[in-house]
Amino acid sequence: MLPTIEWRGDHVVMIDQRRLPGEEIYLECRTAEDVAVAIEKMIIRGAPAIGVAAAFGVALGLSRVQNAAAAPDEFERVSARLHGTRPTARNLFWALERMRTAFERYRRLPLGELKAGLIREALDIEREDAEINRTIGRFGADLINDGDAVLTHCNAGGLATAAYGTAVGVIRSAFEQGKKIRVFADETRPFLQGARLTAWELEKLGIPYFVITDNMAGWLMKKGEIALAVVGADRIARNGDTANKIGTYSVAVLAKENAIPFYVAAPLSTFDFSLATGDAIPIEERSPLEVKEINGKLITPPGARVRNPAFDVTPASYIAAIITEKGIVRPPYEESLKALR
Ligand code: MRU
Repeated sequence: MLPTIEWRGDHVVMIDQRRLPGEEIYLECRTAEDVAVAIEKMIIRGAPAIGVAAAFGVALGLSRVQNAAAAPDEFERVSARLHGTRPTARNLFWALERMRTAFERYRRLPLGELKAGLIREALDIEREDAEINRTIGRFGADLINDGDAVLTHCNAGGLATAAYGTAVGVIRSAFEQGKKIRVFADETRPFLQGARLTAWELEKLGIPYFVITDNMAGWLMKKGEIALAVVGADRIARNGDTANKIGTYSVAVLAKENAIPFYVAAPLSTFDFSLATGDAIPIEERSPLEVKEINGKLITPPGARVRNPAFDVTPASYIAAIITEKGIVRPPYEESLKALR
């Protein structure tokens, strides 16, 4: 299992995803604030992994409380802090809502039992996410044929989840079934989740892959070198519109133009049924330096103005199917997703 994040009794340990693949460094988070900073700095990233981290953050925050009377205020404080870390991934808010429900369930019990209950809930969220991803993988593997080349964008692997991955989980599952497949991993500028993280995972798993720069995908599709694309998601609206890493929309448009199926793999915790369409999904805008620098070295004129939206929204009309833990759903999503709720 890939070491995304682990609970160690009174702290959590996570691999520093900023330093991969060059260095495998594990960082300790001892407070809710440590976890919030880790999410903001993308030490841990990927929608489900962010959710798991936030749940542990709440558990850590409450574990420091000395008397029961202080627990409600501390719960509100740490929840609000974690809530403000990143805006797009639905799993963050889903996990915080689940921790709130757990807090309400245990708040009248002795303080020690409240603390233990919150830790249990966070561990459940982690365990369930790992199980769900294996189920998504099994369903999704049916969409991959022996001999296929699969394109993926960003990192929706073990590092982005509690374990196993969503889009990478689908690829993994097909590979474990003995299908001879190969992967094209988009580099995914500017944070390079594909080149650094997906490639690192595929390497460890022994799955054949090529890293390509983002602008190569269209040409390889046109040449018939890619059979399908599968990506993860940060938030999916009621109509199937899907927010995912910036560049996903371009992949989807290119796939449609080249008659290649484009699939999204995501757990139900990524769905936001309160949103009718993707228009209302908040899109995080990150520091211009992520675009202006590579490895700390400026690649633009110092005064260059840049934009750095971290996500885009792919309209549902480009998505051939969404793979969830309850099965594969197809358009029209408004109808097919209703059955999952
Ligand atoms: O900015 P990131 O690295 O957190 O963005 C990650 C993605 O966009 C992933 O594709 C998504 O969260 C799905 S992870 C299973």
